[in-house]
Amino acid sequence: MFSRGLGSHVWDESGREYLDFFAGAGALNYGHNHPDIKKALLEYLAGDSIVHSLDMYTTAKADFLRAFEQAILTPRDLDYKVQFPGPAGNNAVEAALKLARKYTGRETVVSFTNAFHGMTLGALAVTGNSMKRSGAGIPLAHGAPMPYDQFLDGSIPDFMLFERMLTDSGSGLDKPAAVIVETVQGEGGINVANHEWLRGLADLCQRHEMLLIVDDIQMGCGRTGPFFSFEAAGIVPDIVCMSKSLSGIGLPLALTLFKRELDVWEPGEHNGTFRGFNPAFVTATAALGFWPDDHMEKQTLAKGEQVERGLTAIADEHADLGATVRGRGLAWGLAFDDPAVTDAVCAAAFTDGLLVETAGADSEVTKLMPPLTVTEDEIDAGLDILAKAVRTARP
Ligand SMILES: Cc1ncc(COP(=O)(O)O)c(C=O)c1O
Repeated sequence: MFSRGLGSHVWDESGREYLDFFAGAGALNYGHNHPDIKKALLEYLAGDSIVHSLDMYTTAKADFLRAFEQAILTPRDLDYKVQFPGPAGNNAVEAALKLARKYTGRETVVSFTNAFHGMTLGALAVTGNSMKRSGAGIPLAHGAPMPYDQFLDGSIPDFMLFERMLTDSGSGLDKPAAVIVETVQGEGGINVANHEWLRGLADLCQRHEMLLIVDDIQMGCGRTGPFFSFEAAGIVPDIVCMSKSLSGIGLPLALTLFKRELDVWEPGEHNGTFRGFNPAFVTATAALGFWPDDHMEKQTLAKGEQVERGLTAIADEHADLGATVRGRGLAWGLAFDDPAVTDAVCAAAFTDGLLVETAGADSEVTKLMPPLTVTEDEIDAGLDILAKAVRTARP
């Protein structure tokens, strides 16, 4: 049972220390209890400031919107409207799907193999994992899966199938409202889409008048380097879903960003009680302090190279188990042919004080997502534990 957390470390009730390379599945990009963010929260609460306000105007909300525009949107030349859906990632996805359907008057949304977009029914309908889909208990309708980058054997040109399905009137694919995509699939196993593939997708969407939704819930807020994970590909999605590390300290907060012309919502058409959680606005504003320039991005990319080097050495040592490495920024995966190996690796790492989770359709990938604030020494320490864990776990 965990009781404390600071930076890249957590402690359990007995005082045992763990390195946290799980980081709330991407909700703690700035580590546990970052002092600047915590200070802002404590000051806010100490002042009897408003905590709950549904969707009313508050100072905390206005401050966040101003800071988000100044630090994130304007420098990137992005002119999005900002919607606060319910505070979990899945609600940002639900809002995106509903808006795309309402705007286009179409029903189908194309998603990709191994995608993960959340556990509510709309989001599950565009999620790949069969175990998670089976929890719906009813048919999951109005989604159409297509192969993600590198899902096939590489011999078929990108989007050949997708475009044929769009253009052949016998394909059975109704004209989609939108396409929803993760630039790097987190839960799906750290599958990294090439920038060219993402550009090809954006181009396809434009040519066939489908809205492009990027789900940046796990890979946004700097996880792959830049604030938005799609920046490096040079694409501009029509709709963006964000949550997880937005509040900077693990408080629930989600955003759906969309191009102005898409705003066809009636007032209250996608409402919810916890859309105005002011402590999260306050910590989110403080967290934007990490983004005055590209310093954070550069640091993340450099640390990512360090992780890649360490993982590659581990994979080389265990090539006979089919070990492979994939990742971008500070989201990395170490996959084994046999998911039982991955399971044993994560268990052995936990025993030695490292928190990592599994990902992938069959949980065959060990997923490493340390806080972006992790130090080089902490990365080395985590990789040492992992290297030992693989040696212990291998059959
Ligand atoms: C890409 C992506 N989308 C959506 C979600 C759902 O977010 P939440 O668990 O906050 O509903 C997740 C959660 O892991 C995610 O990784």
